[in-house]
Amino acid sequence: MPAALAQAVQRLRAGTLVGLPTETVYGLAADADRADAVARIYGAKGRPSDHPLIVHVVAEPAAARAAALAHYAQDVPAFAQRLMDAFWPGPLTLILPRRPGVAERAAAGQDSIGLRCPAHPVAQALLRACANAGILGLAAPSANRFGRVSPTRAEHVLDELEAVLDDEQLLVLDAGACPVGIESTIVDATRKQPVLLRPGMITRAQLEAAAGLPVADRDAQAPRASGMLASHYAPRARVRLMAADELQTALDLLGTQAPRLAVYHRSPLRCASPQVRLQRMPNDAQACARELFAVLRALDDSETTLIWVERPPADASWDGVRDRLQRAAA
Ligand code: TXA
Ligand code: MG
Repeated sequence: MPAALAQAVQRLRAGTLVGLPTETVYGLAADADRADAVARIYGAKGRPSDHPLIVHVVAEPAAARAAALAHYAQDVPAFAQRLMDAFWPGPLTLILPRRPGVAERAAAGQDSIGLRCPAHPVAQALLRACANAGILGLAAPSANRFGRVSPTRAEHVLDELEAVLDDEQLLVLDAGACPVGIESTIVDATRKQPVLLRPGMITRAQLEAAAGLPVADRDAQAPRASGMLASHYAPRARVRLMAADELQTALDLLGTQAPRLAVYHRSPLRCASPQVRLQRMPNDAQACARELFAVLRALDDSETTLIWVERPPADASWDGVRDRLQRAAA
């Protein structure tokens, strides 16, 4: 086993936090069955203690995954099993009925538990090593301060958390940039029908095809969850979503006294002001998702007070990106 992995397992066994690369974003991980370790996650993130965490489980061997599933969840509906078969390992989190008495703190007291089997090879190598050491699941929210932009590189994790964890050097397993770039699709499987709680790169149509059921939108009965707050994933600068023509008009109206402004756009735009930084958005939703949080971080420097973003296309493949941008702008 590589030394960094062995060290990560040792730290997790000691109740210490570890920065975990996944295919979506970096997580801040602890043994999901240790209330003391999980409490450290809430402290480091500044996350309210009533916002539940996702628990990550191993993919292989299949018996280990089944053991983890049986440990954390019960009464798994057939449609949830079909979704796991179709998308695990991968960027899908399922909210399942929780087995009473387990991972209470990670679940923030809800009678459900969010489970995810990540596809990232480093995440899976760590989860396998953990399973061998008797750790069945890693509770891991995105490794950012509460309400902020999720980290998609190891250095983002350190930028976010080093200051609050200065008593001990945080170990982050550095696996470079996350290939998906926005957080997992979350489906509530505690009701008769699947409910989409958070859009991601797995689309509703893909979910419906695999589940064999229509996927409902969240309603008033849906559980409260932090990633679902209207304002989230927010840079420090104010983010505004605008149509291309609206953007061009606003740029034309900027005088020489314009504030420091960044524009993230797909359509060609004209702008003469040296105060304005133009950043081109990819035409493809997957490529945009992959770079989105790193771009928001880079545009959000201390001098920039406004980030104008061209509204993404209406196409379903953009649902995840559109959701994150709307929350960043809220
Ligand atoms: O891609 C991801 O999901 C990343 C990586 C690290 O796996 N994790 C992530 O975690 O985005 P976090 O904590 O930033 O967002 C998880 C969302 C939150 O909105 C949380 O409230 C919700 O999942 N959640 C977790 N458990 C839940 C539960 N039992 N019921 C309802 N919502 C839940
Ligand atoms: Mg988060």
